[in-house]
Amino acid sequence: MSKKAIEEIENLRAKIRYHDKKYYVENMPEIADYEYDQLVKELDKLERAYPQLITSDSPTQRVSGEPISGFTSVEHRIPMLSIDNTYSEEELREFDCRIRRMLKHVDVDEIEYVVELKIDGVAITLWYEEGIFIRGATRGDGLRGDDVTVNLRTVKDIPLRFSCTDNKRMPSVLEIRGEIYMPNKEFQRLNQEREEADEPQFANPRNAAAGSLKLLNHHITAKRNLRLFAYAFGYYEDDRFASHIECLEAAKEFGLSVNQHYKLCANMDEVISYCNSWESKRKGLDYQVDGMVVKVNSLKLHDELGSTSKAPRWVMSYKYNPEEAITRIEAIRVQVGKTGTLTPVAELSAVQLSGTTVSRATLHNFDEIERKDIRIGDYVVVRKAGEIIPQVVKVLEKKRTGSEERFHVPKICPVCKEPVIKEKVYLRCYNPLCTAQAKRRIMYFVSRKAMDIEGFGPAIIEQLVDKNIIGDYADIYSLKFDDLEPLERMGEKSARNLLDAIQKSKGSDLHRLVCALGIQNVGSHAAEVLSKHFGTLDKLMDASVEELEEIFEIGNVMANSIVNFFSNSHTKEVINKLRAAGVNTKATSKKLRLVSSITEKSFVITGTLNGYTRQEIEGVIKDLGGKVSSTVSNKTDFLVVGELPGSKLEKAKELGVTILNKEEFENLIRKRN
Ligand code: IVH
Repeated sequence: MSKKAIEEIENLRAKIRYHDKKYYVENMPEIADYEYDQLVKELDKLERAYPQLITSDSPTQRVSGEPISGFTSVEHRIPMLSIDNTYSEEELREFDCRIRRMLKHVDVDEIEYVVELKIDGVAITLWYEEGIFIRGATRGDGLRGDDVTVNLRTVKDIPLRFSCTDNKRMPSVLEIRGEIYMPNKEFQRLNQEREEADEPQFANPRNAAAGSLKLLNHHITAKRNLRLFAYAFGYYEDDRFASHIECLEAAKEFGLSVNQHYKLCANMDEVISYCNSWESKRKGLDYQVDGMVVKVNSLKLHDELGSTSKAPRWVMSYKYNPEEAITRIEAIRVQVGKTGTLTPVAELSAVQLSGTTVSRATLHNFDEIERKDIRIGDYVVVRKAGEIIPQVVKVLEKKRTGSEERFHVPKICPVCKEPVIKEKVYLRCYNPLCTAQAKRRIMYFVSRKAMDIEGFGPAIIEQLVDKNIIGDYADIYSLKFDDLEPLERMGEKSARNLLDAIQKSKGSDLHRLVCALGIQNVGSHAAEVLSKHFGTLDKLMDASVEELEEIFEIGNVMANSIVNFFSNSHTKEVINKLRAAGVNTKATSKKLRLVSSITEKSFVITGTLNGYTRQEIEGVIKDLGGKVSSTVSNKTDFLVVGELPGSKLEKAKELGVTILNKEEFENLIRKRN
């Protein structure tokens, strides 16, 4: 192995860590995302060539390995206590008085406070040894939490190795406490994706962060773009820090992301004025802040103050009141999603809430209406606390006049009038000819992440379906100028542009089409995985549940819904229409051509290959679109031979299968670059 490669790899890792710190800690990136991606790609390429040099703290190793089957429980070295909270200034002053009473001997000037934003996410603890990230866990019951290391490794603000391990201030063992959160934009993106796939949405960014942290498949967690703010040290060796501020500064030096809006305050007046200054300012941030946290700065005083069984005495949170408003439910409307899920939506008398006019609130499902006993005409409290989508908190029963009407759970689809079926807490319309579903499916088909047909808005789709011009998404390819031009909000020019855009979409890559078909549980990412694996729509349509389940990232639920979808006779008809119209059904993307040396080839492995586990080799082959089988047959394309091969080698020779040693195999996988 060349010394140059080792140096180059170390060099690249150091560069990437440096830029991670610039981006995540200092908020001052020095290079463009593209350049950063090139550095990671370069490192990845070198590590593939020298897999024996891969270390678990390498920036390429955030999302490696197989999904896990469950979380183990870990004991916290120091319990993760909660903190006391208050909603009033008076109580903050009482907190200050209590501290002074307990610290009578301490000079008043010595009692300083640090005030930080209270991030509304999920508390976690991170364990570092010699600057290397070892383990991370959730709070759990405060004494024991879940080991969520694999998921935390995907969070880019968490350094897998500190950026300066030679720092004199770095304790050899250091526990960091912090908050994992989901930025608002990411939360909206995720919920939109879930709505389009007809999956239940998360109520607020905190729930979304908690759910993402508890996923068993960390490859999915990695796509959720979770973030971290470190806010305290837990356990560490040797008392080398004197104040909380010093801990925050040191955390930043080590490469951890610390929220920048903390302030050292000399007294309670300053604390209160800083807290108040954030009450409205926080709404301009891209993450949820539900209050402020006030901490005594001196760590010596933390020790003197100690803790109760529930919370440390040196910290208090000052929570902002959730924003609420009172309004009336004018009606409860039932929406039908693209796969037929019925969702109740409350139509409200318009009311101002957190700077926006709210006239609708989600009711999630029909059980919730019953549980909260919501009736049409009720006065209700609506809230937008962590939630971006307003929610009905409770009914003001005292305001009832008796004229309120109970809502009746629908037995039939409000659009096509066919009976609906209950599935867990959801109601579903299964009529494939339901126009509400048809409209939703067409909207999805033309949407940006699917066939991306510009100028095909909901108003046009509504009119085309209502006028019986189109019944399903394949019909859009038979649209003529005379069908479009007379529509409202259309004109000659828009009609021509739309026809051009429809025509152009016929050449879209297969993954767009697979996504656009609107198969339940199959979003744009799964569509890419499927297209890459099968290469043609025909092959995907012929796949069995077992075959689908073999694909990394495709689980049993998705495999079943794909097979169900394609076995439906209506689906077959629509797909035939798409083909007849000339819609492309083959993967043409560059990505696929690049991996063509392995795509769809069948591999068998025998013996051990130094530097790789069996799982890793299988993972690489499958990622590149190849298949791995355990027995050699005349369908086998390659036998990869390691040390101490078994009888498979003889069999392969007999059948004339191409035999690859380790170097040859590595050359083959490198060809994709
Ligand atoms: S200090 C011993 N600081 O709020 C240290 N907590 O409601 C205790 N939180 O469990 C925590 N931002 O998950 C601290 N700047 C911040 C925080 C913060 C959010 C969370 C934390 C805690 C919860 C209490």
